[in-house]
Amino acid sequence: MKKEHVLITGASSGIGLEIAKIFAGKGFSLVLVARRERKLKKVSQSLTSEYGVNVDYLSADLEMPSTPNEIYGFCHSKEYFVSILVNNAGYALPDAFHNTPMEAEEKFLRVLGISVIALSKLFLKDMIKAKRGKIMMISSVAAFTPPSSIQTLYGPIKTFINRFSEGLNLSYNSYGITSTSVCPGYTITNFHTASGVQAEMDRVPSFMKKEAYRIAEEAVEATLRGDKECVPTKTYKVIVFLLKLLPHWLFPLFSKRLAPGRYDKK
Ligand SMILES: NC(=O)c1ccc[n+]([C@@H]2O[C@H](COP(=O)([O-])OP(=O)(O)OC[C@H]3O[C@@H](n4cnc5c(N)ncnc54)[C@H](OP(=O)(O)O)[C@@H]3O)[C@@H](O)[C@H]2O)c1
Repeated sequence: MKKEHVLITGASSGIGLEIAKIFAGKGFSLVLVARRERKLKKVSQSLTSEYGVNVDYLSADLEMPSTPNEIYGFCHSKEYFVSILVNNAGYALPDAFHNTPMEAEEKFLRVLGISVIALSKLFLKDMIKAKRGKIMMISSVAAFTPPSSIQTLYGPIKTFINRFSEGLNLSYNSYGITSTSVCPGYTITNFHTASGVQAEMDRVPSFMKKEAYRIAEEAVEATLRGDKECVPTKTYKVIVFLLKLLPHWLFPLFSKRLAPGRYDKK
């Protein structure tokens, strides 16, 4: 009998790490994926000792085309059934579109897009056989905001993720499988430093900066319920409600104040 696991990409820090803590606290066994092996080892040991669950890890770079197959092979060889797949790993590119090399755009789209498709495709097959499974996609409020003058492809790829998640629900809900797109707003993690946009984050009003554990709590509950979409925190529920309602020509009136840096850099 296969051992049931939750697989989380980008579990070495930020939102992914908080999601790992919450699932471990609920007694789930985990497979953690990210590049930093030492960090993964430390997190695995601390979660195992704190919660008494089985935590395995794999150091892998999602920029590489072969990585999704390697992750699937790793789980298969250990006889893990991934009943919950969390596609969370991500970052943003800081420079203007014309200054970003095409190679960097390709790697970015591989981590945030193609690897998400590949992992979902690979693990879905076992979920279909088992007639149950859950996929969590960490998207972003950027999926709903107007295009910005930096991180040009970030909003579009997150919009794609939301649409992809909707498609999975349409096709696989009848097999007992659900997909939840989680759309956080500004969250205090390593993301802005790693993506070279910490200066922009520092200028964001403090009521808009949220703790990663709050995002993770809402994300896990929504995924376990099988919700289609989750916008964590009341602040961003209101913002996304307004973004869906208001005509787009109104956005420039408040976007420079609420999302400084995203609309003024050339
Ligand atoms: N922070 C925000 O304001 C915010 C808002 C909305 C959505 N999000 C989304 O939330 C998700 C998690 O980001 P975060 O805020 O938690 O940032 P973070 O603290 O920087 O975490 C990013 C995670 O992704 C992993 N990762 C990055 N590149 C990778 C690669 N090539 N291969 C494998 N793993 C990789 C990192 O691990 P290693 O470095 O060890 O590989 C790390 O564990 C992302 O999808 C991001 O788009 C963030």
